[in-house]
Amino acid sequence: MTLRAILAGTGSALPRTRVSNAELAERVDTSDEWIVERTGIRFRYIAEPDETTATLGAAAAQQALAAAGLQPSDIGLIILATATPDNTFPASATKVQALIGAPDCIAFDVAAVCSGFLYAVTVADSMLRTGAAKHALVIGSETFSRILDWEDRTTCVLFGDGAGAVVLSAKDVDDDQGILATRLHADGKYSGMLYVDGGPSTTGTVGHVRMHGREVFRHAVTNLASVLGEVLEDTGLSPSDVDWVVPHQANRRIIDATAKKLGLDPARVVMTVDQHANTSAASVPLALDLAVRDGRIKRGDLVVLEAMGGGFTWGAAALRV
Ligand code: UT7
Repeated sequence: MTLRAILAGTGSALPRTRVSNAELAERVDTSDEWIVERTGIRFRYIAEPDETTATLGAAAAQQALAAAGLQPSDIGLIILATATPDNTFPASATKVQALIGAPDCIAFDVAAVCSGFLYAVTVADSMLRTGAAKHALVIGSETFSRILDWEDRTTCVLFGDGAGAVVLSAKDVDDDQGILATRLHADGKYSGMLYVDGGPSTTGTVGHVRMHGREVFRHAVTNLASVLGEVLEDTGLSPSDVDWVVPHQANRRIIDATAKKLGLDPARVVMTVDQHANTSAASVPLALDLAVRDGRIKRGDLVVLEAMGGGFTWGAAALRV
């Protein structure tokens, strides 16, 4: 028997308001044609003032708990990945804890931007396997619309808001169910490629997203293909063993190029960038929940998750559902 973190349930939540490229083009100097051709994005959801990272995260968490057949009182660990917390502190994870009515447990945020969910899953996996908790809620939740410069067409058309969540449970298994391998990386010398130009310790303001898109694109394809190769090597599996790839949803061209580089079947890649745009830490759990709920991802499937974002940070995970 091996103690592993298994996927017990998934959930997601989107803001009420969906904005099309055409609607955006009324406010910003852009076009549906440019956005679709360069990114694959058609829609994004934008949070209303009463919708926050914590409220969206809590809604996704409640769905994941229901799918796992668990109560808030069963949860011993809440990790929330975000770059857009409700407040500088307390951690949005503690706000989610209060919103869902979970009693005393471990709760904290992880900041690794678009790779945040992979970082959070990796930390939860380690903590579950060392006995810190029996059941963990791992959430990616973002309100990126709050840190966009709506005058900057090179960034504001790319992002959206939303949340995704999973329940991971520690379980003794005698097969290869659960999280099989995780790999994380960071290279801070690229911090100026994708960043927010404000913060409590520097400007005392929240700031706006700034990005050198072409450079990020180039590194994304290289790093994602390499880290996916690493988790497959760790598990002794080959690209043809993968049932589903759930990639970070930043750009259709990055997703396609990465799959091609590794020889992964494009029909086995879950794509939501057209509907959600880039929701940063929320994009992987949002896409995972969608593919579980529409029946594509089934028990026994080998699923790989990957993401790359500001820092740069990047990572991947392989799990048997
Ligand atoms: O989640 C973290 C990871 N983030 C990413 O992975 C993003 C990675 N980067 C990308 O996805 C792409 O680089 C972008 C989608 C951001 C940009 O695509 P690109 O093919 O690299 O375009 P570009 O930045 O080289 O810009 C091409 C042209 C420029 O015009 P000129 O200089 O050629 O005349 C831009 O000014 O497109 C122009 N442009 C726009 N035009 C219409 C830039 N943004 C827009 C826009 N609408 N929204």
